[in-house]
Amino acid sequence: MSRDCIQFIRQGRVLRLRGFAPRTTLLDWLRLEERSTGTKEACAEGDCGACTVVLARRCGDRIAYEPVNSCIAFLGQIDGTELITIEDLARDGTLHPVQAALAAGHGSQCGFCTPGIVMSLFAYYHRVSGTPSRETINDVLAGNLCRCTGYRPIVEAALESLAGPAADRFTAAEPQRLAMLRDLDDGADVFVGDETSFFAAPKSEDALAALLERHPDATIVAGATDVGLWVTKKLAALPKIIHLGRVLGLDGVEETDATLTLGASLPLGRAAPRLGSLDPDIEELLRRFGSVQVRTSGTVGGNIANGSPIGDLAPVLIALGASVELRKGERVRTLPVEKFFVSYGKQDREAGEYVRRLVVPKPAPDARLRVMKITKRMDEDISAVMGAFAVTVTDGRVAAARIAFGGMAGVPKRASAVEQALAGAQIADPATWHAAADKISDDFTPLTDQRGSAAYRLQVAKNLVVKALAEIAGVPGAATRVRPRQERARVAS
Ligand SMILES: Cc1cc2nc3c(=O)[nH]c(=O)nc-3n(C[C@H](O)[C@H](O)[C@H](O)COP(=O)(O)OP(=O)(O)OC[C@H]3O[C@@H](n4cnc5c(N)ncnc54)[C@H](O)[C@@H]3O)c2cc1C
Ligand code: FES
Ligand code: FES
Repeated sequence: MSRDCIQFIRQGRVLRLRGFAPRTTLLDWLRLEERSTGTKEACAEGDCGACTVVLARRCGDRIAYEPVNSCIAFLGQIDGTELITIEDLARDGTLHPVQAALAAGHGSQCGFCTPGIVMSLFAYYHRVSGTPSRETINDVLAGNLCRCTGYRPIVEAALESLAGPAADRFTAAEPQRLAMLRDLDDGADVFVGDETSFFAAPKSEDALAALLERHPDATIVAGATDVGLWVTKKLAALPKIIHLGRVLGLDGVEETDATLTLGASLPLGRAAPRLGSLDPDIEELLRRFGSVQVRTSGTVGGNIANGSPIGDLAPVLIALGASVELRKGERVRTLPVEKFFVSYGKQDREAGEYVRRLVVPKPAPDARLRVMKITKRMDEDISAVMGAFAVTVTDGRVAAARIAFGGMAGVPKRASAVEQALAGAQIADPATWHAAADKISDDFTPLTDQRGSAAYRLQVAKNLVVKALAEIAGVPGAATRVRPRQERARVAS
């Protein structure tokens, strides 16, 4: 079954849209077509959160409220959801509890950031159980910048309004809204447009594979947290878009004693607890991956398929020895993640082929993992250098080491010379750490760019090798982190 429109719920009604340009962003539709101008545009690249809206999505018998940066989301991506914007919160002159708390607590001055902040808090209002901590609120608002009020009154207002269970008109109407969302889920393949220009969202992997074979030149879009910027910053035309968000099962998770398998279109926010359960450093990495909005839309597959030399997942997956599964037509093939990255801008992926899933071996009980992300600021920043270390120590000697870096070359890459220097070395001997660190310059010739000079990157990477090994050796005081590493019983320090 195929449908030539997208359909979603807007202010209690089902809207069906056809005939829109595939690259239309959700924000442009809201502001230029619907004329709902409460949602603001500032950075147009997913950083500031001024454009945050909420997509309500059916998850079994409940509704999930997802904050999304509408500036870099494509209109077609909202198929099957309920779109909630700042205009929808106050009713008959009564503010929503998060709006009321912000107003009463002087959490707004020029007000440009305020709609986005309200929508982020509104989404969290429907997720929170129990009173959140200040630290949690800081995480919730990491993707919302305010340039005049200062964060204290905003955070205070958040703490006040999020103290109890959600009780607003959205919760009161949940049974009816759930029924409407259920009705939207018709199992159809979406194809809006014609063979030369379309927004398509197939419902099954077979339909996706067939569509990609017919249109190998189409742009695959998962969360659009990269692709959206091609439109807003590079003014890319993108005549053919194939969206993965409706493909059944492509966002699945399978877990065995030995592996964790993540579907390519699994959003990073949903992947975080599963990947984070492998090691506290991975959990912390994902907390600092973009913002809640970016993790809600961005996917694990997109983070690998984009081929970025500074993507955060790749070094971790390479250190863990993960593999990537690709499909083209009927053919499915698997290769190690490290082999997927061929050279800058080039991956081992043919036209018409898509990333299907990532298979991650769980670290062995005696493996020690360390993951370190170096950025200019703590929150919502892309790595300048990122190091992932998986080291097994037996009888005081390094029995195995897999070490990978991002930000040090045109692709995420293993530090083979460092690994060799470590083979069989005494882990507790500081000379081991420094000899291994010195090999970094054999492995990498980094570039200079806005995030750091080549010399800075080399020095940082060397320091990370020393730090990781000192931590793994258990040197007291070596484990300095902004947030202390929560050691679980299984993983020794
Ligand atoms: C504000 C902001 C902060 C960010 N912070 C971080 C960060 O901290 N760390 C980090 O690593 N990244 C960060 N990113 C980058 C981005 O969010 C991630 O790379 C994300 O994982 C991309 O996933 P996506 O689903 O949005 O990809 P999309 O934008 O949908 O796609 C990215 C690329 O991959 C291709 N693609 C996507 N899925 C598939 C598939 N299954 N098969 C084949 N091709 C596919 C697309 O065609 C495109 O070329 C940030 C981005 C923004 C806007
Ligand atoms: S306008 Fe800044 S995140 Fe969208
Ligand atoms: S109130 Fe002006 S940017 Fe936040």
